[in-house]
Order: sequence, then structure tokens, then C-alpha cells
Amino acid sequence: MTADLSPADSAKFAAAKRACDFVEDGMTLGLGTGSTAAWLLKCLGELVTRDGLRIRGVPTSQRTAELARESGIEVITLEEARWLDLTIDGADEFDGGLNLIKGGGGALLREKIVAAASDRMIVIADISKQVAHLGAFPLPVEVVPFGWQATRRIIVESVVALNLPGDNVTLRMDGDAPYVTDEGNHILDLHLSRIGNLRQLARVLNQVPGVVESGLFLDICDLVVVGHQDGRVELRDIRADMTDTGRVGKGGRDNLFSDLDD
Ligand code: 5RP
Repeated sequence: MTADLSPADSAKFAAAKRACDFVEDGMTLGLGTGSTAAWLLKCLGELVTRDGLRIRGVPTSQRTAELARESGIEVITLEEARWLDLTIDGADEFDGGLNLIKGGGGALLREKIVAAASDRMIVIADISKQVAHLGAFPLPVEVVPFGWQATRRIIVESVVALNLPGDNVTLRMDGDAPYVTDEGNHILDLHLSRIGNLRQLARVLNQVPGVVESGLFLDICDLVVVGHQDGRVELRDIRADMTDTGRVGKGGRDNLFSDLDD
């Protein structure tokens, strides 16, 4: 199985596995969405079923809820949890200030609500997600379906006023129909290339009528666990100004790969 994993999956697995070290017995967790978060659910599920780890999780999407249950993780609502000890989620981009672009998987709204309701947010990512400046990945913006074309026009005017390109703001599709989020909204993807002033853009977007939330996560992430394809893992903690390097073992009891073989 190890040999079957792509380099990208090996890196995602390494990050997910290392992030489990931050999970303590009895914690209530926010569970992210995406392919890296899916590895986390497998790793956590292993700890629950094999080691008896007691955790409860609030999923950030219906997809994650299903995967968590399949992995043996108890799923509860945010209302039931009230507050979370820790959220672990993926990201589409992160910069040196641990600012993020999220929403490539279409779950940015629940992801932001859950992360904001947590003592701590840890991002798990392979090294390809690290950027000097956010914006090469199209910025997802969740909008209500009513009048989304008008919302799009105002977004275009707003980004042009900030000297950002407004000529490529696209409605995310799911086949022939607009993509619909778990909250029943649509997503506009803003192809901006490079975002200069993150805070200004976030503020401006949130003022547009019809915009529910943007995929800019600023001052939310506390730590990024960066995975490499050879199993190396780095920790980036902006507040402690710390970079810590280690390696996730693939042998013995640590060997999740063998468990995923069937
Ligand atoms: C979903 C997200 C994901 O965390 C982001 O898209 C990263 O996904 P992946 O781990 O598959 O690269 O924000 O809305």
C-alpha cells in the first residue's frame, strides 16, 4: 500500500498522522473537509478503534460526517458541542503569516464557523500548499443563490477598485448545474493571481450584499503541519515563531498504510 500511495498522498498522510499528536483523550474536535482531512479521519479512526481514544467530532461537511462515522468517530453537532478544543483542516494555500485560502472543496462556510468556534486551529497540508503570496489558487466566495449575478457584478467592481483583476470571476459548476454548498449556496471563484492586501479584500468582500463568506482565513490558523512525500513533517507556528521538523514513521505500530491495504 505504501508503494501505491502517490507522492501527494504520502505527504498528506504524513501531515495528518503528525497532527494526531495534538489530539488528547476527551477532546471535542472540528473535523475538516478535503483529501488531506480524509487522511486525518482515517488516522483518528485508527486511534479510536485500536487505542480506545475518546473523541467527539463536529464535521465541516456532509462528506466529512459520513467519513467520520465510517471511521468510528462519534459525530455531534456544533450546537451539542457548544465549543471545540481543536479544529484540524486542510487548506488550498497558506502563507508565511499562516493566512489561508480555503474552500476548494466547497465547504468554506462551515469550515470557518467551526474553526472560529475552536480554541485552536491546526492546518494539515502538503508542501505544495505553501506560497509566498496568496492568490494563485482561485479564491472561493460563497454567495446566496438569489441574485448571484448582481452579487458577482459588485464583486467584480470591488476587486477592480482594489487593482485586482476582475475579468475572471466564475460560478463554480457541478456538471451542468451551479455547485450547491451544504448550506444551499453557490460559490464564485475569483482568479486574482496575487492578493496584495488580504485584510482589505476580506473586508470589502464581506460588505457585498449576497456574499455569505470568503475563503480568506486570516488570524484563525495557529499551526500548520506541513507534510513531505518522504515522510518528513514540519511545524509552522507563527506565534511561537517556531519551525520544528520530524518524520512520520511508516513501520511497526505506526504503520497505518498496512491497515488501509484492504
Ligand atoms: C474544503 C477545503 C479543503 O481543506 C481544501 O480544499 C484542501 O483540500 P485538499 O486537502 O483536498 O487539498 O477548504 O473546502
